Amino acid sequence: MGQGTPGGLNKHNLPGDRKNDGGDKKEKKFEPSAPPSRVGRKARLPVVTPVTKCKLRLLKLERIKDYLLMEEEFVANQERLKPHEEKSEEDRSKVDDLRGSPMSVGNLEELIDENHAIVSSSVGPEYYVSILSFVDKDQLEPGCAILMHNKVLSVVGLLQDDVDPMVSVMKVEKAPLESYADIGGLDAQIQEIKEAVELPLTHPELYEDIGIKPPKGVILYGEPGTGKTLLAKAVANSTSATFLRVVGSELIQKYLGDGPKLVRELFRVADDLSPSIVFIDEIDAVGTKRYDAHSGGEREIQRTMLELLNQLDGFDSRGDVKVILATNKIESLDPALLRPGRIDRKIEFPLPDIKTRRRIFQIHTSRMTLADDVNLEEFVMTKDEFSGADIKAICTEAGLLALRERRMKVTHTDFKKAKEKVMFKKKEGVPEGLYM
Ligand SMILES: Nc1ncnc2c1ncn2[C@@H]1O[C@H](COP(=O)(O)OP(=O)(O)O)[C@@H](O)[C@H]1O
Ligand SMILES: [Mg+2]
Repeated sequence: MGQGTPGGLNKHNLPGDRKNDGGDKKEKKFEPSAPPSRVGRKARLPVVTPVTKCKLRLLKLERIKDYLLMEEEFVANQERLKPHEEKSEEDRSKVDDLRGSPMSVGNLEELIDENHAIVSSSVGPEYYVSILSFVDKDQLEPGCAILMHNKVLSVVGLLQDDVDPMVSVMKVEKAPLESYADIGGLDAQIQEIKEAVELPLTHPELYEDIGIKPPKGVILYGEPGTGKTLLAKAVANSTSATFLRVVGSELIQKYLGDGPKLVRELFRVADDLSPSIVFIDEIDAVGTKRYDAHSGGEREIQRTMLELLNQLDGFDSRGDVKVILATNKIESLDPALLRPGRIDRKIEFPLPDIKTRRRIFQIHTSRMTLADDVNLEEFVMTKDEFSGADIKAICTEAGLLALRERRMKVTHTDFKKAKEKVMFKKKEGVPEGLYM
């Protein structure tokens, strides 16, 4: 009858609908499973006959109701699901942005042509991969460190700064404040280190004239607190050469092969920046005698030392690199390290004698306000054994005692108490008779 129901519902004619051949062209069977093609458009309900209240009408109405319910659920579902997908897509792209794409670091082994190269990753195998177009190919050269895509391993970038960050930290940028003037006594030691380390760097021609090779390095040894590190600092302060400082324990690394690699890298950087001085403090951490090592860790430490020996031998000649080692325990060092040709000069740091003690006291009290009754000679002449560090500790302690009582001047009693305290602590630190 042409009720004009263009709505979605009417397309799927309910069986009870009037089969009106006039308006609707296709007569479809009732297919509840088919999704409505026009979601959201307003649909008018079909006319239900018979109009009178009867069982048939009730059934028909119920059917329509079922259908409407189904349609409602479908629409609700669609609305719930669609933005969900979009949203998760958005989230994912945000997370990707944050995360960046993971990359791995590898080594360029060989350039094949414009766009291909052979690379090796740290894991081991080598791959033939492509080089992405935006990589600056002029800077690529065999052996340089590159960034690779984590899955396809293609070259995506170049690592410019291939100096190991561990080594760049070792370079002493800011000269230490300690100078030769802050060292009491030790004149012979200062002269020796100047001859062996500084002179060859500043005046190599002198050694050439005489016809000898300057020593490669020196080792400073002696009791703790006798000024070994202090002297090295003074050298760093006065020299114009690059100064690299390492503590032996830093050379012990977590992973196999990292220690020797670090040593190699250290000397390579020293060579690059030459003339330079490499100072390795507390060398006994790596330089102990070779004995039958049982654990892998010990063997690794030995390998680190062997690499150090190798570098000292200078198979690749390192002209302008001088080495200063320092240790408290020279007797525990591997003789190979100290044999002539490697470290020729052994500089001993004795405990200060009376004259030196006086000088060290002077140095450390020079900036303190002393009362008139202070008689430092008493401490200078005592029979107790002092190292330079002990003297410094006494002066500091005395100052602290005065400070505690809010006095502006440090008195003789302060020094006495301080000395007692320092000597007591010193004795306490060494278990008597244990190492006799
Ligand atoms: N000859 C010295 N003259 C002045 N101060 C000294 C002397 N020897 C040691 N000291 C003091 O002792 C401190 C520790 O000395 P240090 O060189 O670190 O000892 P170590 O020989 O164990 O490396 C120094 O900071 C310095 O203040
Ligand atoms: Mg030291």
